[in-house]
Amino acid sequence: MYNHVMRTWLLGTLMVTNNATLATLVDPEVQAVSLLLHDIGFDQSPNSPIVSPDRRFEVDGAIAAREFIKALASSKQWDDHPLQLVWDSIALHSEARYALFKEPDVATVSTTIHMDFGGPGNGVTRAEYDAVVAAFPKAGLRDAVLEAFMWLCRTKPGVTYDTYVQPFGERFVANYSAAGHQTIDLLLSAPSD
Ligand SMILES: *[C@@H]1O[C@H](CO)[C@@H](O)[C@H](O)[C@H]1NC(C)=O
Repeated sequence: MYNHVMRTWLLGTLMVTNNATLATLVDPEVQAVSLLLHDIGFDQSPNSPIVSPDRRFEVDGAIAAREFIKALASSKQWDDHPLQLVWDSIALHSEARYALFKEPDVATVSTTIHMDFGGPGNGVTRAEYDAVVAAFPKAGLRDAVLEAFMWLCRTKPGVTYDTYVQPFGERFVANYSAAGHQTIDLLLSAPSD
């Protein structure tokens, strides 16, 4: 996970610095904090002060990042707007269908994280991508993400129903069931008149 967030920060920096238009639009500090902290909601240490019983990990991460910035002595330099951009970037990073239509900072964070799984693009060359992966190898990425999703399905299944995490629970977690908890169930149980 550490290597993953380090790669996303480097890939995001390359994506933005390689694109003159994006470079004028994206705040590199917002981008760095968002990418480096985007998975902090996966903190599995006992009694984590970050992880809630009832919020998506993306929202736990967004809240923790905001608290982290506000606790810094230098936080006086952070206006509400960049603080909001960090919150939105982390909260929406896994939902490209929203993030890509938000501010360039938010869209770039989501694109970059997906690039770490999908390969080079978005102005990042194959050679640049390979150099980042060589510095922070991908070994274990797939299994770490699988484990994190299964942990979500076991510990707070309610936040996984109707999301991209649900199929991981259905396929890999014993006794996981979204039945009765999905939007379709809610709608079909409502009166039709
Ligand atoms: C799943 O449910 C069955 C039947 O209630 C139970 O015997 C089993 O221990 C459960 N497995 C887990 C991993 O909770």
